[in-house]
Amino acid sequence: MEYDLTVIGSGPGGYVAAIRAAQLGMKTAIIEKYDTLGGTCLNVGCIPSKALLDSSEHYHNAVHNFKEHGIDVKSPKVDLPQMIKRKDQVVKQTCDGVEFLMKKNKITVHHGVGSFVDKNTIKITAKDGKETEIKTDKTIIATGSKPIIIPGVDYDKKRVITSTEALDLQEVPKEMIVIGGGIIGMELGSVYGRMGTKVTVIEYLDTLIPGMDRTLGKELQKSLKKLGFEFHFKTKVTSAKTKGKQVIVEAETQKGEKKEFKADYCLVAVGRKAYTEGLGLENIGLSTDDRGRVEVNDKLETKIPGIYAIGDVVKGTMLAHKAEEEGVFVAESIAGHKPHINYNLIPGVVYTWPEAAGVGYTEDQLKEQGKKYKSGSFPMRALGRARASMDIEGLIKVLADAETDEILGVHMIGPRVADLIAEAVVAMEYRASAEDIARMSHAHPTYTEAMKEACMAATENRALHI
Ligand code: FAD
Ligand code: NAI
Repeated sequence: MEYDLTVIGSGPGGYVAAIRAAQLGMKTAIIEKYDTLGGTCLNVGCIPSKALLDSSEHYHNAVHNFKEHGIDVKSPKVDLPQMIKRKDQVVKQTCDGVEFLMKKNKITVHHGVGSFVDKNTIKITAKDGKETEIKTDKTIIATGSKPIIIPGVDYDKKRVITSTEALDLQEVPKEMIVIGGGIIGMELGSVYGRMGTKVTVIEYLDTLIPGMDRTLGKELQKSLKKLGFEFHFKTKVTSAKTKGKQVIVEAETQKGEKKEFKADYCLVAVGRKAYTEGLGLENIGLSTDDRGRVEVNDKLETKIPGIYAIGDVVKGTMLAHKAEEEGVFVAESIAGHKPHINYNLIPGVVYTWPEAAGVGYTEDQLKEQGKKYKSGSFPMRALGRARASMDIEGLIKVLADAETDEILGVHMIGPRVADLIAEAVVAMEYRASAEDIARMSHAHPTYTEAMKEACMAATENRALHI
């Protein structure tokens, strides 16, 4: 065989799998259809969205908060082309970093669309149409996902856009309709909302970020309302069409009432679907499930021995760090190790401001399971650190087993909780009780004190600073 392992797709799942396999001594190749490595996450996902979130938050602070801090800047203005240029530089540096890591680990990079000829042969079709074939012992499918476009929505990529175009706009929209109150809608809606866009969110369900604990959706809604967001819940979009410089969106409420919305841009953010087009799965007898995902067993191996699949193209949450864990898991499994992933402890984060983050069970899930639990919360506004930085919105909620005090879920909204959630993950991996965390020293003044206080509140309602 030419290669011990070939990875198709260079997103966080694919490139991490390739590095780990190379570390373990496998002769490894990676195939990427685009010119740059890094997949959705680095090119049109996690990294560019966070770059724009940071820039727009600086602008928002300059306009709204600097004065109170005693900093007088005369009418700050948005320079969107510069903001986008900086974002592009961050993306380039990050993608170049992956290229460097491939070289460092002696991983062969092939650019082109990879498709199965048979179980051990993969054809690579380059942009210029040139075809080459490589032989491989094992393969990991890591081809990721693409945005879902709902029927009736005319996705013209100019005014009716997905996250990909929203990361590259040439002007700040006056008004933006966001279809879907999920993660992309709230993050990219925030980017433009902070720069003055009037954002209208149309959400099918009755809450924002419905995958997370309800408290977070409720609190986030309050914060985004202050930013001028308008919300329409229990409302399903049925069509979106561009007419000149306007988008007309039609929707229907759960009660059957028809509504019409108008704006200069409409962001479609109703979820993503697994991407397997052009992969030639039919040539090896592999089919996809009802949601287009590659089916795998608990070892992430398809029904064809030696062919694995990871990340957004398989079941589970569509998150970069989940894809990475699975990449390492498969590389180590192939090498004969006995790796392990605790899917319940993969944290979810929304990078709005305040940030939202959660790990473990939500309160609704515990109720469904009939589990007896205790809940302890602590508001950010009661922290000296939060008052010092003027970031007083949000709270930390800890859910613990009513009898054993073991932490079952931690849900946070507030400043830097994207980073704070790591403490909850460590605590839960080691099956800590709320009292264990309550008795550990947390530096003062830090936002982490809210975690300690919420654990005290969960243990026996003995938070100190409230
Ligand atoms: P991908 O990153 O999608 O990579 C798949 C790669 O495979 C692509 O480069 C594709 O071109 C390539 N490919 C596909 N088919 C072929 C083929 N036949 N031949 C060769 N190459 C092929 N997740 C987080 O955890 N945190 C975040 O902050 C976050 N922010 C996001 C923001 C946005 C706007 C979006 C859209 C997503 C975000 N995500 C975030 C989700 C995250 O990007 C995905 O979960 C992650 O990229 C999945 O990784 P993957 O390796 O499975 O696939
Ligand atoms: P999502 O699943 O988070 O949210 C989609 C929302 O659209 C849901 O609330 C759903 O009820 C709603 N919806 C569906 N059809 C609708 C309709 N016809 N009318 C109105 N509302 C409708 O999906 P999203 O935001 O597109 O993001 C896709 C995925 O990308 C996320 O689930 C996440 O896995 C990943 N992502 C992760 C990020 C992070 O980790 N910070 C950031 C951005 C994306």
